[in-house]
Amino acid sequence: MTVLVTAASGKVGREVVAQLEARDVDVRPATRRSTIPLDWTDATSWPNALDGVDRIFLVVPGGDDGHRSVTGLGPRVCEFLDLAASTGVSRVVLMTALGMDFAPPEVEQRAVEIHLQAGGPAWTILRPNWFFQNLRHGPLQVLAEAGDGVLRLPAGDAAVSFIDTRDIAAVAVEALLGTGKGEEYALTGPASLTFTEVAQACRDSRLPLHAYEPVSDARFRQNAAELGWHPDYVDSLSGLFRSIAAGHASAITDDIAQVTGRRPRALTDFVREIG
Ligand SMILES: NC(=O)c1ccc[n+]([C@@H]2O[C@H](COP(=O)([O-])OP(=O)(O)OC[C@H]3O[C@@H](n4cnc5c(N)ncnc54)[C@H](OP(=O)(O)O)[C@@H]3O)[C@@H](O)[C@H]2O)c1
Repeated sequence: MTVLVTAASGKVGREVVAQLEARDVDVRPATRRSTIPLDWTDATSWPNALDGVDRIFLVVPGGDDGHRSVTGLGPRVCEFLDLAASTGVSRVVLMTALGMDFAPPEVEQRAVEIHLQAGGPAWTILRPNWFFQNLRHGPLQVLAEAGDGVLRLPAGDAAVSFIDTRDIAAVAVEALLGTGKGEEYALTGPASLTFTEVAQACRDSRLPLHAYEPVSDARFRQNAAELGWHPDYVDSLSGLFRSIAAGHASAITDDIAQVTGRRPRALTDFVREIG
């Protein structure tokens, strides 16, 4: 069995690769820079990437590094899924984001979910909440560093049930190697934390975060513009923070424990490991 892992250098993809390899599975990492490259914007790269592949871990890239738009990739991923079905791929595990099942079909990741559900291969959809790992690499880390350790977001005082990407990967691996069909998981960490609580937990660590300040959407957009972030990316983050502020990211589920038999890692575990 060969498993193609897309976004294999990403925060979840790299953990999926490591956990599959630990189980002696033949893994094909697939990004624009992998040995056998896969680029969503270049369909000529797809046949080689799919050659001999049975199962796929699928991620539509999110904001990349913040400096380029990644909108428009969803339709390409749907075309790729059609090709994958025609080349004999039997199982696809798709990761989108918590709440995506409530998004309208115009949202690209929701459109990919719907396309997958209507196609041939057996499918599982994972919808995780915000990653702890964003505190180390990604928009939260960049914003905190730019604010000299103060994270300024238009997220009010709402809480988020942050999750460790290793726990998401553990569920992905079970789904990739299992026999389930049509399963959907809402994946969260074990606790719902405000950004003030997150900042308190990080204060004595090497993470670049020691305080949180809620700000207006306009102030966030101004800070993001000063960082040179692409307007599409800023719009997408702004929408996510609005959703957090409305309390939509605070629910806690036990899907990780149900699938893996283990409790998900806590923020304090993640911070302690960073040191
Ligand atoms: N961050 C969160 O807290 C969070 C929470 C829930 C869900 N999600 C979802 O997780 C996904 C991405 O997470 P992330 O933003 O944290 O990404 P990431 O981990 O930074 O990884 C992006 C990956 O996509 C690859 N990639 C980028 N452009 C590509 C292209 N044109 N063709 C092929 N591969 C490409 C990159 O590899 P190369 O650069 O080598 O090509 C990299 O492996 C998104 O679907 C997002 O909605 C994120």
